[in-house]
Parts: sequence; structure tokens; C-alpha cells
Amino acid sequence: MSQAVAIDWDGLRATALEAMHRAYAPYSRFPVGVAGLVDDGRIVSGCNVENAAYGVALCAECGMVSQLHLSGGGRLVAVSCVNGGGDPLMPCGRCRQLLWENGGPGCQVMTSSGARTMTEVLPDAFGSDDLDDFEGTSP
Ligand code: THU
Repeated sequence: MSQAVAIDWDGLRATALEAMHRAYAPYSRFPVGVAGLVDDGRIVSGCNVENAAYGVALCAECGMVSQLHLSGGGRLVAVSCVNGGGDPLMPCGRCRQLLWENGGPGCQVMTSSGARTMTEVLPDAFGSDDLDDFEGTSP
């Protein structure tokens, strides 16, 4: 069990801003950067990467979660996501699901109204526990 780590929100936002400047968003012109604090103190980050086939754009959170696993795994404790103006950006629905999987109910997300838990931003979330609720028989 990792020790509780202090959340340096200013530092997380600074890393998210740095990532935002690396975004590849020529189609939407909406760069996004995100940074996450891991329960062992590591910081992981990501930027959005778009594609000429619009539908396959990768959100910034996808890159961050990939880096989380690539750099040793662990659980996200706090996440700061910013838009091109450096303001807090609420993760989209799909990305809230990613954050739920990798941070769980207590993971905090910075919003325009302050830090909120994943339980607040994704109430009644579907998660791995739901898969255990039903043992499943063939349809
Ligand atoms: N985007 C993210 O990177 N994360 C979100 O949570 C919301 C949306 C990106 C996807 C796309 O490249 C651009 O923002 C406009 O939707």
C-alpha cells in the first residue's frame, strides 16, 4: 500500500500545460493537456492526438493512461486537464471511464469549481465490480 501523497495542483497544472503545447490538434484546433499524480508520487501526462479520420482522435487522457502503465502502473490520485487557454477541462464521458478504471472513486479531478472526486464527476459508475455481480451463463 502506497503512502498518501500530497497534491501539488499548481505543479500538475504546469505539467498539463506543457503537455497541451505538444497536442496534435490540426482539425479541431482544440489542444488539450492532462497530468496525473500517481500514488507513488510519479507524474504522468498526455496530449490529444487527432487524425484525418476524425473519429479516431485520441484524447489527452488516453495518452496519459498509456504512460501510467508504461511507466510502472499504479493508481491515479489526482488529475488536472487543461484546454488551450490553460483553463480546467472536464474530461469527456469516455475519459471519465478511463479515470475511473485507473484511479477509482477517490481520485480527484480539478474542475472550474475546484477539486472533485471521481464519484462526483461519474456517479453510479460502471466498473470492474459490476462484472463480478453476475457470474454469467451462455445467452
Ligand atoms: N479532448 C480531449 O483530449 N479530452 C477530453 O476529455 C475532451 C476532448 C480532445 C479530443 C479532440 O482532439 C478535441 O479535444 C476536441 O474534441
